[in-house]
Amino acid sequence: MPIKSNDRINQDQINLVENAQNRIRQKKRLFYHFSIMFFGNISFLTFNLLFGFKDEVVLFDYPWSYLAIALWFLIFLIHFYNVFITNKFMGDKWEREQIKKLVSKQELKITKLKMEFEKEARIKAESEIFNQNNSSSCITLIAAASANNVIGNNNKLIWHLSDDLKHFKELTKGHCVIMGRKTFESMPKALPNRTNIVVTRKLDYIAKDATVVHSIHEALEKAKDDKQPFIIGGGEIYSQSMVLSDRIELTRVHTESQGDAYFPEIDYKLWNEVSREERFKDEKHQFDFTFIRYNKK
Ligand SMILES: NC(=O)c1ccc[n+]([C@@H]2O[C@H](COP(=O)([O-])OP(=O)(O)OC[C@H]3O[C@@H](n4cnc5c(N)ncnc54)[C@H](OP(=O)(O)O)[C@@H]3O)[C@@H](O)[C@H]2O)c1
Repeated sequence: MPIKSNDRINQDQINLVENAQNRIRQKKRLFYHFSIMFFGNISFLTFNLLFGFKDEVVLFDYPWSYLAIALWFLIFLIHFYNVFITNKFMGDKWEREQIKKLVSKQELKITKLKMEFEKEARIKAESEIFNQNNSSSCITLIAAASANNVIGNNNKLIWHLSDDLKHFKELTKGHCVIMGRKTFESMPKALPNRTNIVVTRKLDYIAKDATVVHSIHEALEKAKDDKQPFIIGGGEIYSQSMVLSDRIELTRVHTESQGDAYFPEIDYKLWNEVSREERFKDEKHQFDFTFIRYNKK
């Protein structure tokens, strides 16, 4: 991706230089036109007067030199109009502004690209190191998301689906559960029978019955002895851990919800659906839902 964008930047610069060169050529041509016309006209008049053609009458009763001058002047006016009226908006000032705009746009693009590139490179490097150290474990994201990927609102879950809770408990029991600080605070207490790991940037954060860490990699490092550590949310943590995960246990709740926390879009080029199990709405379940397992390709 960065290579393509760099190509685009180079093309922009080439276009800019070509435009400036065209403009210079245009103006030079106008100057030559004017000079030749000026001296040409004087010569015509001189010839006409000196060599006695002044009484010669041609088309429309004027000497030929007058007509030649008028014609030349008309062409010059058209040329002048093209350069300074039609292309006025492309004058020097306009060009300088365009260059300024382009340069600042390009600088912004380059800075963004650099940041993206550095971020990608950092994530990739960290993931590679991490994968080397944890190649035998199956990092699993577990989530329940509506059809439009909503997972929570105002730091609360949206629905209560008892079979989904059971499913969550069965899968995560005895394992490490890694969560963002907000998800931890949305629960009444640490989840029993699991090693709770809370990710926060707050260096002085204390979480009862949980291990506090300051990055997702540190969390996974803490969970390195677990063959299947679970990342249990919320939105911020899911979106950063997709790249590190091997499996997604998704409960797709068949409703469109409103909320402020989202499950990231699943890129089906990277993930294979390996199983699905449908559940239907009943007195204990407000919506139909489906347990879907995805493995990373
Ligand atoms: N439906 C589901 O399956 C499900 C599951 C879990 C949660 N949820 C819902 O999701 C919502 C919460 O999700 P959320 O996205 O708002 O918050 P979150 O992901 O639970 O937590 C975000 C917090 O995690 C910490 N954090 C994030 N990235 C970090 C990093 N790279 N390094 C260190 N710390 C990092 C930061 O804590 P500090 O601000 O302390 O630095 C950040 O504010 C709630 O509504 C909850 O009910 C739904």
